[in-house]
Amino acid sequence: MTIRRIAVLTSGGDAPGMNAAIRAVTRTALNKNWQVFGVKHGYAGLVAGDFRPLGPRDVGGIIQMGGTMLGSARSEKFKTEEGQREALRNLNQKGIDAIVVIGGNGSQTGTNVLHQHGFPAIGVASTIDNDLYGSSITIGVDTALNIALEAIDRLKTTASSHQRAFMVEVMGRDCGYLALMAGIAGGAEAIVIPERETQPHEVAQVLMAAYDRGKAHGIVVVAEGAKYGADELLEYFKQNHEQVGFELRSIKIGHVQRGGAPLAFDRILATRLGAEAVEQLAKGNSGVLVGMIGNQTATTPLIEIAGKHRPVDPSLLELAEILAK
Ligand code: F6P
Repeated sequence: MTIRRIAVLTSGGDAPGMNAAIRAVTRTALNKNWQVFGVKHGYAGLVAGDFRPLGPRDVGGIIQMGGTMLGSARSEKFKTEEGQREALRNLNQKGIDAIVVIGGNGSQTGTNVLHQHGFPAIGVASTIDNDLYGSSITIGVDTALNIALEAIDRLKTTASSHQRAFMVEVMGRDCGYLALMAGIAGGAEAIVIPERETQPHEVAQVLMAAYDRGKAHGIVVVAEGAKYGADELLEYFKQNHEQVGFELRSIKIGHVQRGGAPLAFDRILATRLGAEAVEQLAKGNSGVLVGMIGNQTATTPLIEIAGKHRPVDPSLLELAEILAK
């Protein structure tokens, strides 16, 4: 099929670098003399028919901006048959031939739905969680990681001055990637991730042992999806204050991790993946995720990634434990 007009949308949690991906999709497509429409607010805008034409100047000056100029959303309506029918009707009414969806796991389920309905659709791997099967790194992870790391570095200085223990909770949904990498890069004494159950008393023992070895601080990085997460840890330290001998203070970095300007790595990654998505459409491909495997762009059928989460490398947790000694 000859492509003349494509749509692009961003969906799910925003990620630093999404704008760079929109820019790459738009300008690569324009270079092929295709028309480009941006869909506002993810699948919600697809269902509502909220499209706007994108020219080269519309995506100018956005590569360095965080968030997404198109807006994002988590749409319940698109999960229904009726919502999907409306979305397809809108795409057909606008004469759109294909779509690029920039987003994470949930968003790519939607890309697959469009593809299954016979509408050419390609996904671009973008989420700060880095849990997407089919991409060893996703847009936004590096920037989010550096934001978490800055918080850890800052906490460490004040923790050392006061011989205090701090716990930093980072995002990641059910994936421990951000916590593990932030913990390694920040030299944390303990890292708690969903992929390996760690009981609160084990964390307390690790911190007590660190103080015994002469450390001036104790830093724990906890993934938000961990079974015994921030709340359980705080409760344990409160209940066992006398036995442990020190208090644990806590910081949740939360959405700060998703905001702000994308670092160079995310801008370049987003540029490569966005451009490759358009090249794949030009080749007649559909129903795939464009991600990074090794240092190359790669495509993986969306049907293969559905419902899967890319696991973190558990050997890195062991390495972090050794290096924290
Ligand atoms: O998927 C990205 C993410 O930031 C997760 O790390 C987090 O659990 C979730 O989104 C938060 O979602 P929301 O912004 O809808 O609260």
